[in-house]
Amino acid sequence: MDDTHPTPTVPPSTASAYLNPSYWDERFTKEEKYEWLKDYSHFRHLIQPHLTPNSSVLELGCGNSQMCEGLYMDGTTNITCIDLSYVAVQNMQNRLLSHKFKDIKVMQADMLELPFDDECFDLVIEKGTMDVLFVDSGDPWNPKPETMAKVMSTLKGVHRVLKENGTFISITFGQPHFRRPIFNAPEFSWSVEYTTFGETFHYFVYVLKKGQRSSNEDIQPVKSFEVQHFNLFHEELEGEDFAFRINVDELNN
Ligand SMILES: C[S@@+](CC[C@H](N)C(=O)[O-])C[C@H]1O[C@@H](n2cnc3c(N)ncnc32)[C@H](O)[C@@H]1O
Repeated sequence: MDDTHPTPTVPPSTASAYLNPSYWDERFTKEEKYEWLKDYSHFRHLIQPHLTPNSSVLELGCGNSQMCEGLYMDGTTNITCIDLSYVAVQNMQNRLLSHKFKDIKVMQADMLELPFDDECFDLVIEKGTMDVLFVDSGDPWNPKPETMAKVMSTLKGVHRVLKENGTFISITFGQPHFRRPIFNAPEFSWSVEYTTFGETFHYFVYVLKKGQRSSNEDIQPVKSFEVQHFNLFHEELEGEDFAFRINVDELNN
């Protein structure tokens, strides 16, 4: 996590708060900048091969991240950012105008019901936004039906708004044994690949290419023996995204 704002944000007492839109509105009234996971400089080399200056890009749940400015400065200027939080959207619009990124569009929208036409974006990207949907998922090997309904709504919307051969990039700490079976659901025509970045703790960058699923890319069954245990006291887990990496509420019960 790269925290670029002057005072640390106190995590909510329960991770389920991240699912509450008013939590984000209240947070964004006080917080100017914050990067979940890592900032763009850490993974831009993994994103840039999928972009051209003509690419149309949709970012889900921009919050107050500076990823869109990074993409813009790297030459892709046709960017639309959405966030469910009205405050995040207002703040982002003001920030982009004052820093001469006025071409970047920002709008309030729910990623579960994307208000865009079919096949209108070359690339959809999200960083830490879909992770919010998993904070009260229960057993990660068998997420609650409510969680899966929201995740599938989001993914179906992303798949729908992507152009044929468009790309979805998901930047997350969600590990492949949990995410690949979801991304590989039979209704999606995309191929699923991933890579990692980060030094001691690895973050995952999933690259899903619409229309490029190969016939042998079946849903991988979830296998409990693939669990990678990690040390909860590792220094990189001291940031707020700690709450996303484990199900804190489950531990508290
Ligand atoms: C963990 S933050 C990530 C913010 C940013 N992407 C980053 O990397 O710093 C999650 C963001 O998703 C937004 N969000 C939560 N649920 C959403 C939804 N259903 N649709 C759109 N945005 C949502 C929140 O308002 C918040 O800005």
